Amino acid sequence: MKTENANPQAKYLKDYRSPAFLVKSVELTIELDDHKTKVISVVDYVKNEATTSLEPNVLVLDGEQQNLLQVSLNGQVLTPEQYQLSDTNLCLEPGLASFQLIIESEIDPANNTSLEGLYKSGGVFCTQCEAEGFRKITYYQDRPDVLATFTTHIIGDPKQYPFMLSNGNKVNEQSWDNETLKVTWQDPHPKPAYLFALVAGDLDVLRDNYTTKSGREVKLELFVDKGNLHRAPFAMQSLQRSMLWDEERFGLEYDLDIYMIVAVDFFNMGAMENKGLNVFNSKCVLADPNSATDNDYLMIESIVGHEYFHNWTGNRVTCRDWFQLSLKEGLTVFRDQEFSMDLGSRAVNRIQQVKVMRSHQFAEDAGPMSHPIRPESVIEQNNFYTVTVYDKGAEVIRMMHSILGEQGFQNGMRLYFERHDGQAVTCDDFVAAMQDANKEAVDLSLFKRWYSQSGTPSISVVEKYDAQQKRFSITLSQLTKPTADQPNKLPLHIPVNIALFSQQGQVVSHAEQHVLNLTQDSQTFEFENIDEQPYVSYLRDFSAPVQLNYQYSDQALATLLAAESSGFAKWELAQTWFIQQIKAKITDKEFAFSSLLVSSLAKVITDQEADLLLVAEILKLPSVATILADFEQIDIDEIISARDAFTQFLAAQLKSELRGIIERTAPKAYEFSAEQIASRAIRNAALMLLAYNTDCEVAQIEAQFANADNMTDVLGALGAASIAQSTIADNTVFNRLMKEFETKWTGDSLVMDKWLSLNATHESDCTLAHLAQLEKHQDFTMQNPNRVRALIGAFAMNNPKAFHSKDGAGYQYLANKLIELNAINPQVAARLITPLIQFKNLDDSRQVLIKGELERIAQTPDLSKDLYEKITKALA
Ligand code: ARG
Ligand code: ZN
Repeated sequence: MKTENANPQAKYLKDYRSPAFLVKSVELTIELDDHKTKVISVVDYVKNEATTSLEPNVLVLDGEQQNLLQVSLNGQVLTPEQYQLSDTNLCLEPGLASFQLIIESEIDPANNTSLEGLYKSGGVFCTQCEAEGFRKITYYQDRPDVLATFTTHIIGDPKQYPFMLSNGNKVNEQSWDNETLKVTWQDPHPKPAYLFALVAGDLDVLRDNYTTKSGREVKLELFVDKGNLHRAPFAMQSLQRSMLWDEERFGLEYDLDIYMIVAVDFFNMGAMENKGLNVFNSKCVLADPNSATDNDYLMIESIVGHEYFHNWTGNRVTCRDWFQLSLKEGLTVFRDQEFSMDLGSRAVNRIQQVKVMRSHQFAEDAGPMSHPIRPESVIEQNNFYTVTVYDKGAEVIRMMHSILGEQGFQNGMRLYFERHDGQAVTCDDFVAAMQDANKEAVDLSLFKRWYSQSGTPSISVVEKYDAQQKRFSITLSQLTKPTADQPNKLPLHIPVNIALFSQQGQVVSHAEQHVLNLTQDSQTFEFENIDEQPYVSYLRDFSAPVQLNYQYSDQALATLLAAESSGFAKWELAQTWFIQQIKAKITDKEFAFSSLLVSSLAKVITDQEADLLLVAEILKLPSVATILADFEQIDIDEIISARDAFTQFLAAQLKSELRGIIERTAPKAYEFSAEQIASRAIRNAALMLLAYNTDCEVAQIEAQFANADNMTDVLGALGAASIAQSTIADNTVFNRLMKEFETKWTGDSLVMDKWLSLNATHESDCTLAHLAQLEKHQDFTMQNPNRVRALIGAFAMNNPKAFHSKDGAGYQYLANKLIELNAINPQVAARLITPLIQFKNLDDSRQVLIKGELERIAQTPDLSKDLYEKITKALA
């Protein structure tokens, strides 16, 4: 395999060694220029007396893609013989206990399409340094356990770049002539290099402020592209809500006098928590009712919260090394989840979280990239910003929270900050704080295994009822299959939340809710004085990230669905029922879908008391990916067609109830309120399902499209139109509405992303030809990650029929795009390859096709480490 660096090597957690030198302070001077930005770094070093480095006298600096101009040590210019320079490092032996190093180098931001380090996004200079991007800016120990205070001077043309920003507080501004301005920023909080940020551009700014609980006046500034101010207020309000929530729920306050957020169009991920200067993908900031859906708003709120919450969980206490990434990400995801749950619907938020686990994380853990939430070996760090580290990481924190309770958990958090504020620490340090703050109450020693063991445990259940003894027992067994990274698995501490109901749906009073703590391979739990065989609702609230192996009877499902008090559990039972029906259809083509299911659902839909947002979720079917995860090896077309058949069955059987919803939820003048969000959600879920009927009312869809005063209803109509056009063979409703949409929104890239995705996921006979056409659309470019994800990502992830077409054309298309992207943006390419490496559950012939494509990609000249790591693992 040909790669950039002959043979990319893995790094191992077990090889961690503390740095040979520590940094007292960093002073950067950055002279902005599109192709020749000059960077001067003045860094004061001291020997680390406690180093565990094997070469304690050698200073190893990371540096890539720079033109090194000069190195001087304590004022003496060094000759090239006095240091060693490679493509990735600069090493020297200073022979001093403390010294100053000045390094000058030159970089080319305008040609930096990887969007890592310093690059240009449109006309704006910006940075992304996590995980290892700082080494593309200057030579430095680019590792999170080296903390220093930063002073940053930015020199540039104030007409082109009226705003020149960096971390901390602006302490000076100096201009020579009309053409040059030098702005100086100082960040008093020592930080690792990955939290460094710089932005320079001509932007609009929304200003506001926040007063902390202890009276600090904080200036809030939100920078957006010119002309986009009307899309900024919601993100600003989200920031203020986040600040208040972190004070109220976690007792944590902000610690600088200014908090800035900049929205940029070219960004690899969602956003970045740089100290005092967050950089955001504009998609995660900008919203107004015409252009953003209700879900966009909620997504923005949660990401603004996420980055703000990092200020404590990430910045004040950071990671010792990148294997500990979940220390900050799992914990911060848990915090942003709780933020959204406290502000909105707890049940529906939980449903979204569980969907991510089931349709993405379980697949990752079952595939070649399986890793524990604290990985043990890594080739390319960017490949480990995963659903496992983030979302399963958050599930592990959530289990600890449920084991310790809110009070015990908050005591643990306080101790964690008391011990580690200002430090770079490990996941073990976090668990130790949780343990020590709850000494008598719990023992987390077995629980810790969640950090080191990968894979999804599956739980099987055997129930026994002894009528004579009136004793009911549940035997739970856990099994984690070997994963790509770990052949041997041990039992985990798994909290299984259950509830017992009588056959009439009464809560079995003395056993209403239990958490069964499964800690061995197999354990039996007994319940006394049970008058009849009960129905059990399992894994309520998704109390652990496991697969449940249990076949409910239809009667049990009907009873539990009606009886359950938990909204989440109701949804879970409905989903389980759907999956059981779809699987039965796959096994037996003659299988008749359950009419008991229909009447049970009809009750849920027509219940006047019901939470409409929850019912909307109940009306959505499990994704193809979620169902696929339940099979060893299967022709995916069988899942797709059984799922389609079941959807059509529901649409037909529930037609009058669904039409009832449409009648009851006629849109009112737009408001962003919980009540209206729920009303739009259920209306659009109903519209979508009704579109599966051959007599679906196209007029209804067109009317909603024409009259909508908000993007949620516009997209609801388009989604339904997409289905309707496929259902009624020669209809053109989707094409017509999409044309109108295109005319209206061309040039507005964030909105056009929605249009690209709708095109990419629409079912038709000529999807691939259409994709090729769309790549030429004026609103598409391979350079912008949002565009690439909207078109190519949506196709590969959300159009299973076309992507998995039997001739392999979908696989070939994606492979071609990945080869192109490898040269432009390796991180985006490596994210997009996911559906090509998770092939284990597909049939043999598809596996052969996919492997052929992977081998073809592997031949790409200058294959990035990012793709190299994933392809090697997939083909192993
Ligand atoms: N820390 C950022 C966040 O979760 C994400 C940074 C991702 N960077 C990367 N190179 N993958 O908020
Ligand atoms: Zn994060």
